[in-house]
Amino acid sequence: MQAVKNSVAAALSRAVAERFGTDAVTSEEIAAMLEYPPDAAMGDLAFPCFKLSKSLRAAPPAIAARLAEGFSDPYIAETSVAGGYLNFRLAAGAFVSHVVSDIERQGERYGSPGTGEGKTVVLDYSSPNVAKPFHIGHLGTTVIGHSLKLLFAFAGYRCVGINYLGDWGTQFGKMIVAFRRWGSVDIDRATVDDLVALYVKFHEEAERDPSLNDAARAEFTRLEHGDPEDTALWKKFIEISLKEYKVTYDQLGIEFDSYAGESFYSDKMPAAIEEMRRAGLLEIDDGASVVRLDDYGMPPCLILKRDGSSLYPARDIAAALYRKKTYGFDKCVYVTSAGQSLHFKQWFKVLELMGYPWAKDELVHVPYGTVSINGEKLATRTGNVILLRDLFRMAIEKVRAIIEEKTPDLPDKDKVAEEVGVGAVVFHYLSNNRTRDINFDLETALSFDGNTGPYAQYSYARCCSILEKADASGVPDYAAAGAAELELSRALSRFGETVSAALTDYEPSYITRYILDLCTAFNRFYHDCPILSADAPTKAMRLALVRSVKTVLGTALHLICLKTPNKI
Ligand code: ARG
Repeated sequence: MQAVKNSVAAALSRAVAERFGTDAVTSEEIAAMLEYPPDAAMGDLAFPCFKLSKSLRAAPPAIAARLAEGFSDPYIAETSVAGGYLNFRLAAGAFVSHVVSDIERQGERYGSPGTGEGKTVVLDYSSPNVAKPFHIGHLGTTVIGHSLKLLFAFAGYRCVGINYLGDWGTQFGKMIVAFRRWGSVDIDRATVDDLVALYVKFHEEAERDPSLNDAARAEFTRLEHGDPEDTALWKKFIEISLKEYKVTYDQLGIEFDSYAGESFYSDKMPAAIEEMRRAGLLEIDDGASVVRLDDYGMPPCLILKRDGSSLYPARDIAAALYRKKTYGFDKCVYVTSAGQSLHFKQWFKVLELMGYPWAKDELVHVPYGTVSINGEKLATRTGNVILLRDLFRMAIEKVRAIIEEKTPDLPDKDKVAEEVGVGAVVFHYLSNNRTRDINFDLETALSFDGNTGPYAQYSYARCCSILEKADASGVPDYAAAGAAELELSRALSRFGETVSAALTDYEPSYITRYILDLCTAFNRFYHDCPILSADAPTKAMRLALVRSVKTVLGTALHLICLKTPNKI
């Protein structure tokens, strides 16, 4: 749509110069002012004349009327004046042809803002705490994070995806104590479930016997000092956990460039802390070392515990310094629940105070809202959680049953069931603005009616099957395009703007909602416009549109981590 906006804006700025004898407003300024009318009945584009009223010394409706006289642009079929607005109706043929040829020329790059060439972005996401359940609360960081990575890569950035595993801290002391006391399975056969059960057991027992907490602390200190047996056990915990997380990552098509977790930074911490000390930032508060942030309206940032062990913010600071040095990023993005917002604000500030101005502009925290399941909050300690693995399994089983009932002859049934089942969950999750708290209702998530992932994937498969059946040898006649084709092209042409907005706001949900709009336009077109039975030039034009939908819908689905089976 940008090319059309630019063309209309150039024509408008010429009209302003001609009729008002001034070049007070540039073509670029006009392009930025063009809007989409709230109701398509008014037109496809609108130019609000209010802002020009002062410089052109005329009332907005009069400006609109004078600009409309003799207005001419190849993409515009009709203009109309409504109040202070000049509305435009697109010329279907010219517009459809323009959009289709753009998509054909750019293929899978169509819609890329191309703003990232030569720039690097590091994305820290998923980052579960090892030996704890990988549950539905992690869905947000995992899929928002990965979708952002795909969006940045699409815009041309070099992306580094980091899984900053929570693999360090006193909880490993707890796990070691619990495993030695109550672990009844062979460590080589243990699963994350066994580890989680031990973690839950530890907390139950520690309620009765608080001395267990001291034992856990002592064990962690031993681990910090490199005790070989503790280290071996700790490594096992990580290995067991990762093996299982990877099943979920595979289902989502996610690969990380680095698994450098918290433990990776333990030897890089002392230097960072020394820097803080030298900068005069560290203060002792009740034995602990903190950085006071009163001047910035925040509570102190906790760096070291009384016993000298480092805390979460200290590790993040050391990690950011390391990443800046290693990757030379232009941006480092952290995706976590909104519950950690203060943590990020605090340590970003500390880093800035340490003399790193980039901490202010280049570090970005992307928070998301809480997820409850059927109205209930999650609680790791009591074991009241739904694992991502189980959620995906339920979705896959449900899709598998539907396939068995409706299309039992479908090839690759298991693969399709996985792609559609997992896709349904992800799509449902990414339909909401990320900061909203959502109640994940399993019934709705797995319902395949209406605005769902399966509907979007089905629309894609429909494109594939139309293209497979049709002979596309004719020369397209774009003049035959009518309202449904125009509407569909308009939806296609908005893709690039949607991608840019999603990047600016770190909001994959814009893509999800875009997909629904595109599918609605496509299915209306499919309903209203016969393809295979149309005359050859019309058929070729409609097939060209279907090919464009396949390209754009495919790209959009991939950007939100969905797969695109050709047949469902
Ligand atoms: N492991 C943390 C958690 O599960 C998330 C880590 C987020 N990333 C970071 N750099 N702090 O809460």
